[in-house]
Amino acid sequence: TANVRELLLSRIRDVSDYPKPGVMFKDITPLLADPAAFTALTDALAGLCVEHGATKVVGLEARGFILAAPVAVRAGLGFIPVRKAGKLPGATLSQAYELEYGTAEVEIHAEDLDRGDRVMVIDDVLATGGTAEASLGLIRRAGAEVAGLAILMELGFLGGRARLEPALDGAPLEALLTV
Ligand code: PRP
Ligand code: MG
Repeated sequence: TANVRELLLSRIRDVSDYPKPGVMFKDITPLLADPAAFTALTDALAGLCVEHGATKVVGLEARGFILAAPVAVRAGLGFIPVRKAGKLPGATLSQAYELEYGTAEVEIHAEDLDRGDRVMVIDDVLATGGTAEASLGLIRRAGAEVAGLAILMELGFLGGRARLEPALDGAPLEALLTV
């Protein structure tokens, strides 16, 4: 609802010139520190899991973990981490992606997803869409379906939504806030 969006927006802090000059950083730590706002966010994202018939919740390291773990518990679903490369001990699937400078790589434990699973992917911010695109690729390669991608805040001017269209393949991209 509009009230929830107002509450969430009021607890996100704009930090100019961080982490480098010209960048406006969206700091979610005030939201996390406010139990009413964090609960409202958790409930909203858990509601999307139910609405879209998710059977598992995937969170994207690191800030996505903070949101996705309580959402999984609230929705009564298992939580699966997509981690930055080199952190998972089991058999992994890996996907490299482009950063502004250089490349990064994310991984998932392949055994955590089954054919027939419907996965809701959760992260805090959608910027260029590179992180989400790589993660959606991992889920499909693991044989699972994408139930949707749910984001607290979409930075609309960076065009992430258009970039993600092929990777989403018709699955919904739900952004609670767009700036
Ligand atoms: C940030 C943010 C998103 C990602 C969005 O994560 O939390 O995961 O960037 O950017 P993109 O759409 O251009 O891929 P980052 O990897 O910077 O750090 P984190 O480990 O603190 O989440
Ligand atoms: Mg992140």
